[in-house]
Amino acid sequence: MAIYFQQEKRIFTLHTEHSSYQMKVDDYGFLLHLYYGGKISGDMDYLLTYYDRGFSGNPSDAGGDRTYSMDVQPQEYPGLGTGDFRGSALVIRNADGSDCCDLRYVRHEIKKGKYALKGLPAVYADKEEAETLEILLEDPISKVQALLLYGVLEKEDIITRSVRICNQGTDNIVVEKAASACLDFVTGDFDLLSFCGRHTMERNLQRQKVGYGSYVIGSRRGTSSHQYNPAVVLAGKDTTEDYGNCYGMVFVYSGNFMCETEKDQYGQTRLLMGLQSDLFHYPLEPGESLTVPETILSYSGKGLGELSNQFHRCIRNHICRGKYQHGLRPVLINSWEAAYFDFNGETICRLAEEAAGLGIDMVVMDDGWFGKREDDNSGLGDWQVNERKLGSTLGDLIRKVHGLGMKFGIWIEPEMVSEDSSLYREHPDWALQIPGRKPVRGRNQLVLDFSRAEVRDYIFGKICDILDQEKVEYVKWDMNRSISDMYSMENTPGKVSYEYVLGVYDFLERLLQRYPELLVEGCSGGGGRFDAGMLYYTPQIWCSDNTDAIDRTRIQYGTSFFYPVSSVGSHVSAAPNHQTGRCVSLHTRGVVAMAGSFGYELDPAKLAEEEKEEIKTQVNKYKEYATLIQEGKYYRLSNPFEDACAAWLFVTEDGKRALLNVVMLEVHGNMAVSYVKLRGLRKDSIYEDRESGKRYAGDALLEAGLPMPVRPGEYLAYQMELTVVE
Ligand code: GLA
Repeated sequence: MAIYFQQEKRIFTLHTEHSSYQMKVDDYGFLLHLYYGGKISGDMDYLLTYYDRGFSGNPSDAGGDRTYSMDVQPQEYPGLGTGDFRGSALVIRNADGSDCCDLRYVRHEIKKGKYALKGLPAVYADKEEAETLEILLEDPISKVQALLLYGVLEKEDIITRSVRICNQGTDNIVVEKAASACLDFVTGDFDLLSFCGRHTMERNLQRQKVGYGSYVIGSRRGTSSHQYNPAVVLAGKDTTEDYGNCYGMVFVYSGNFMCETEKDQYGQTRLLMGLQSDLFHYPLEPGESLTVPETILSYSGKGLGELSNQFHRCIRNHICRGKYQHGLRPVLINSWEAAYFDFNGETICRLAEEAAGLGIDMVVMDDGWFGKREDDNSGLGDWQVNERKLGSTLGDLIRKVHGLGMKFGIWIEPEMVSEDSSLYREHPDWALQIPGRKPVRGRNQLVLDFSRAEVRDYIFGKICDILDQEKVEYVKWDMNRSISDMYSMENTPGKVSYEYVLGVYDFLERLLQRYPELLVEGCSGGGGRFDAGMLYYTPQIWCSDNTDAIDRTRIQYGTSFFYPVSSVGSHVSAAPNHQTGRCVSLHTRGVVAMAGSFGYELDPAKLAEEEKEEIKTQVNKYKEYATLIQEGKYYRLSNPFEDACAAWLFVTEDGKRALLNVVMLEVHGNMAVSYVKLRGLRKDSIYEDRESGKRYAGDALLEAGLPMPVRPGEYLAYQMELTVVE
């Protein structure tokens, strides 16, 4: 059992293997948060303190008790208008114009298995693996209800939270803000780790002290965004990779979000994760409800490395689905950086032929194969094969590729429309735009109104026509702009930002139902929609449009805090790199790209014979290590934003086999040696380096590490396979 309720004290306790979470219904029916952290056996209500706090107001139920105030008490799901002046989890605009929602406990239920959310991605689990706690709160005046959902995956050290807001009153209300998780800490000095960036440089780690006031990250771009990832860590200020307390929150959602960290007047910390309140005014008529997307919580008392592995396991085993959840991913070659828009059917066949000779499994025909699409200014929405360009039907091209023993993949961008397209000329109202205003263009394209079923149905039909021409094994689903004109000609304003995302999920779900064998890779200008919501449908996501190996060590480092290696689309591209102009050896490019779902993004015909030979070896090596890389534990061994090298390690669950990866980021005259300490190994075992045959004690590798060679040359990379021999 993971969920306990103590009747007399009305205390709820959620236990996972290494953590506990506790809350309590107090005398006035408020649901107070008591504790989240390392496993405990006692009741934590003694942590609550009561003093007369001057300007902190007291609910009228407290009578003359001036020591009771929502301004001070830690809460589970704080609404605005109750005397809590910190950031709220819920803001409701009532029919009379007031902004008040005073939620009190009504009842609860404990169930076997994990709850699911209709129309939204969420963690799933077998009946025996999880339990659900539902707590119903209600505002006694407005009859607005919040059904708090908690899922506990005991073995995985995972707690999930979601909320269903329901209008049980007789008047219309508007939900102005809704979070799915709130964590209040009565004490503690914390750092916030967030992952910021931009197109082609996503998820840079930012670690900052949580100071007084609130710090907010989020997205108003319609997608989770390149700029701020919807996942954060709150860590003790001394917490490192393998020491200390830390709490992670991962939002399972691909649209506008908001994450607030706040230190209040008494040094208490609140962390909120939920929907973005801007561009969101969700009306609920009597009887209607809104589901707030899920947040995954995890706690580690052993530092960030353990926390990351907890999230990796959860996402791999309880978010990702389908044939490729654990199935080895095909090594692919993509036409984008090989040819951009300049290809025909022959180009694709030649690419496939060359790639087949190198041991690559699949060719992907990227943008440019449909409608009038010779550059990125036209054609989106016209999902008809450009047979003139391909020189054949799509079916014939795919059959040729299959004939070479290669799988076939194709690029699509279903959510978009170019103004220069037949679709737009026929249905200009299908694009998101505000009446009377000219919409903002992004990459010279507009966004289709995916909140409308008829728009989705039309595009779905067109995409199915393409996929039905011959067996397609892989689809790259792209989304190449931020949404600026969040207004629908048909749907209720204020609902569009949310319903758009649900529309995307609905489309993806239908696609997967119809083509259960299909591998879909997510993409949004690279990693602009890299989130746990998309990973429910697309087990891998193109991590960044930046394929420069050195930048990638940093992008992949940031990504690794939450997302498993199997989810990271990662390719070897040409040198000099197309985004940065940097030259990095093929070996180093291979080592970096192997920290993901591996592939190539170049034209092998332009390579020298030795390079082709090297690629053959590289592909073989990747295939040899693929299970260890995809399913093993992952450890960060350095911080590539600060250290002279980037280093990471894959280790099997039993710790008996490991693959160390190191890329030297700096080179200097008479350079100091970099020592890399390993993690996750068995300390009592002896390991052998496969290449040199040298033996090392596990504890030595953990405590003292390995000296990296000092050699002239830029960006040298090393890989070392270690296996237990004793
Ligand atoms: C986006 C993707 C690229 C490529 C282009 C095609 O930028 O991230 O990988 O598919 O679109 O237009």
